[in-house]
Amino acid sequence: MMANKGSKQTSVLEPPLAMLAELTHRCPLQCPYCSNPIALAPRSDELEAWEWADVFGQAASLGVLQVHLSGGEPTARKDLSAIISAANEAGIYTNLITSGVLLTRLRLEEYRGAGLDHVQISFQDSDAANADRIGNYANGHQRKLEAARLVRALGLPLTVNAVVHRQNLDHLPQIIAMAHALDAQRLEIANVQYYGWALKNRELLMPTRDQVEQATTAATAAVEEYRGRMAIDYVVPDYYARRPKRCMDGWGSQYFAVTPRGRVLPCHAAESITGMEFSSVRDRPLEWIWQNDPAFNRFRGTGWMPEPCRSCSFKEKDLGGCRCQAFALTGDAAATDPVCEFSPRHQELTSLLEPGPDEVASNYVYRH
Ligand code: FES
Repeated sequence: MMANKGSKQTSVLEPPLAMLAELTHRCPLQCPYCSNPIALAPRSDELEAWEWADVFGQAASLGVLQVHLSGGEPTARKDLSAIISAANEAGIYTNLITSGVLLTRLRLEEYRGAGLDHVQISFQDSDAANADRIGNYANGHQRKLEAARLVRALGLPLTVNAVVHRQNLDHLPQIIAMAHALDAQRLEIANVQYYGWALKNRELLMPTRDQVEQATTAATAAVEEYRGRMAIDYVVPDYYARRPKRCMDGWGSQYFAVTPRGRVLPCHAAESITGMEFSSVRDRPLEWIWQNDPAFNRFRGTGWMPEPCRSCSFKEKDLGGCRCQAFALTGDAAATDPVCEFSPRHQELTSLLEPGPDEVASNYVYRH
């Protein structure tokens, strides 16, 4: 425990609860909203399994209870079982976040034998043709369905993750039904966040107000309908909200991400903020980074906030919203999140919400 040096208030720095381990940037899909950085880490730079084992040991000592094994596509790593096993030995709950397209029964059995606790599979849509078009991967949707069934057949808990946007939001009722038919315990309906690659496709991905209203009605009804059988997480997309969300539950508050080459980030998208520097587990102990790294302390607490946030009664609730979004929209990561109706830049954001022409999906700029 230590004083939070990023805030002028006297507060106590809590230990992190969860970490995102980005094992690789390699991925067979090419989603037009990929949240990985524009410049990807080459395979030769990726942390080795023994380095991940060391990171998990340090993370557990810091207080981390849960690791999300992600990427890119984490199953692209041939040593994934060893990595799962290391997290398991450190006493950390393991959640594999995967597209599912490379999963086979043999591999999943191996992961389960290594101690895997939970699987999350991302879906691009409930409609196979549209899903395969969005991910630019032939027959990917069918493979995902098979992978999800395998997960449940092997007795592992399943979360379905659906990233929603203009090109699939009309199918939300079918996506919810699909998740339930797959016997998912949880469905995460995640709206595209517009930084990194998604900015290149914002016009194609930005939903219309009608779509958002209908989706919100469908999701609200489904939460009640499936209560006790399948948990559903849904929030109104940022650009259509009046107040920003409490992104990352607060910068450097409960969570950190480790990139394939070992950089430790307060948020998985933090590298989209140019000019910020991040320490690496190859150079510094994790505990030092969590407590002292300037990048972590930069937006901790409320002391960094400009007006109108500083004197806003919501500041403890939303902790200033999303720094990556503020940077993407204003070029200043310390600016008030323009999603907030009190932001002086809020009008610029609402001008982006006019429905654009119905462009064809072949106009996506695919991640490659
Ligand atoms: Fe980085 Fe919100 S996505 S702070």
